[in-house]
Amino acid sequence: MEAKFRINSFEEYEEQYKLSTERPEDFWGQIASNYQWQKPWDKTLEWEFDSPDVKWFLNAKLNITENCLDRHLEKRGNKLALIWEPNDPKERFVRMTYRELHEEVCRTANVLKKHGVGKGDRVAIYMPMIPELTIAVLACARIGAVHSVVFAGFSAHALADRINDSSCKMVITADGIYRGAKEIPCKGVVDEALKSCTSVETVLVTERTRWNVQMKEGRDYWMHQELLDVDRFCPAEPMDSEDMLFILYTSGSTGKPKGVVHTCGGYMVYAGYSFANVFQYDESDVYWCTADIGWITGHSYIVYGPLLNGATTLMFEGVPTYPDAGRFWQVCDKHGVNQFYTAPTAIRALMAKGEDHVLSYGLYSLKVLGTVGEPINEEAWEWYHIHVGKEKCPIVDTWWQTETGGIMISGLGGHSPMRPSHAGYPLPGIQPVLLDQEGKEIDGNDQEGYLAMRFPWPSMLRTTYGDHERCKNTYFSHYNGYYFTGDGARRDDKGMYRIIGRVDDVINVSGHRFGTAEIENAINSNDHIVSESAVVGYPHDIKGQGIYAYVITKEPPTNPDKLRAEIVETVVEEIGKIAKPDKIQFVSGLPKTRSGKIMRRILRKIAEGDTSNLGDTSTLLDPDVVDEIKAGAL
Ligand code: WT7
Repeated sequence: MEAKFRINSFEEYEEQYKLSTERPEDFWGQIASNYQWQKPWDKTLEWEFDSPDVKWFLNAKLNITENCLDRHLEKRGNKLALIWEPNDPKERFVRMTYRELHEEVCRTANVLKKHGVGKGDRVAIYMPMIPELTIAVLACARIGAVHSVVFAGFSAHALADRINDSSCKMVITADGIYRGAKEIPCKGVVDEALKSCTSVETVLVTERTRWNVQMKEGRDYWMHQELLDVDRFCPAEPMDSEDMLFILYTSGSTGKPKGVVHTCGGYMVYAGYSFANVFQYDESDVYWCTADIGWITGHSYIVYGPLLNGATTLMFEGVPTYPDAGRFWQVCDKHGVNQFYTAPTAIRALMAKGEDHVLSYGLYSLKVLGTVGEPINEEAWEWYHIHVGKEKCPIVDTWWQTETGGIMISGLGGHSPMRPSHAGYPLPGIQPVLLDQEGKEIDGNDQEGYLAMRFPWPSMLRTTYGDHERCKNTYFSHYNGYYFTGDGARRDDKGMYRIIGRVDDVINVSGHRFGTAEIENAINSNDHIVSESAVVGYPHDIKGQGIYAYVITKEPPTNPDKLRAEIVETVVEEIGKIAKPDKIQFVSGLPKTRSGKIMRRILRKIAEGDTSNLGDTSTLLDPDVVDEIKAGAL
């Protein structure tokens, strides 16, 4: 049997899955041969999960942008690569063909080169969702520079931490951001961040809002001016399969965010393959993923996955509720969107605004609907299926992570059985297992356990930037010989996976991932008022999880509302608006064990509003504090 790049039925999926696990190296070798390589690999895979050390397509040479752009020029030069829909529906949208995108990427790459950026240099990108963001990402890849996109909702402080962690040489940004009814500074945030960064030599500024921003002589340059006198072609840098393609920061259960590292060859192979199969993209389709490129979803399924397949990818600058809650559906109709990929939190927010908005649009073009980022509750799944998909579009509930680089468990649009709130079956090449507390595999169906992977896949993370030990400890040390996801999952009677949620101290707010320790550190940085804090997630109707903070103050709070506002302000400064606590409860103590460990289980229960069964509290240092917290719960 041969590996097929595109699967066309469930039977074929089963065959391909079998092949991919019985002969993984043959399987991935054959899939990889669908791409353009400058030099083939000597060996498909070398791996061990102890260090860990994983290498795919050893010693092969490639450039991912040749596969995203150059390769399509002959057949699809005049096909649309990118459609850009602005924040304001009255503003003109942008369409770019593969030929145009190729040229823009080459020109921007030449600007980067002119400013001394080369292979291996790190470039931070802090931008709104405009075409120049996609172009900047690809321009880095063109010359072998490592991009580190930072979501433009992060604060100056968070941006500076990320720039410093990987000592970026350049920042690419824009003057300002339009997002819904808001006008948000962008260059100003970069200026603030750069006060504490020494590695950055150059800042390139794209014009979006035409605001009068400050330009620092010898450091800051307008992109449109720099583009005036550069060549229209830029040769693609030959990259080793295992050279770094990008860094993307994500939160874990401890301390500061870590830079997840993805490499060129394996990431390319899996991003393209998973896109083709999950979304069942056909040549003339228009595909739209509503994520921001600042997250992994945007990297793999706005930029790389679609372009690797010669698809038309739509990029949206705005928000689902501007100018009204019909905006997503208006854009679907306007551009004839065939595959639509969004997050449960967006569906729930729109659901709360009523059906009228969605019923005003035809949505005839839709074929496949996708969801990602957090578990989707049945109510939201049904609403999506009935009102958006008109009960004729399969829903793919795609489970994956920043670290996995691509979709791991999901239906293949239209071919796989569907069950609400279930991601379903693993993609070919993906070997999930459920583990018990001791790290033993749990066999059979109708089982629950810790979700782990027992075999490598091409787009898995290779390391965490600058700290390989951390990669090992976070993902490969909990259970020997496995990649541990941090999620709990259930396998139903038919072997379909349902993701239950994180089992570590990571919370998922509107599909955005935060470590509780990260938020606590931000709260505690208010050290003239706060002496200690504990943060937990609690169920939230729209966001999935909300942030509940228990805070011990140095003095009893006389004006709690003012204090709350101050604490929120610090979190906004340290991390960004997306990490604002929803509830802050002032307490005089926290439930701790005699060894000083905070019993988060109890705090989570109280935050959930379920105080009937708090379990055994007798081992607590001060059991009375639980009654106080219960009485003051918000
Ligand atoms: C965590 C990863 C990669 C996509 C964006 C989030 C949760 C993701 C699902 C899903 C249930 C999901 C998991 C995972 N998650 N997709 N379809 N069903 N949970 O990426 O920020 O790296 O977060 O998001 O808990 O571990 P991320």
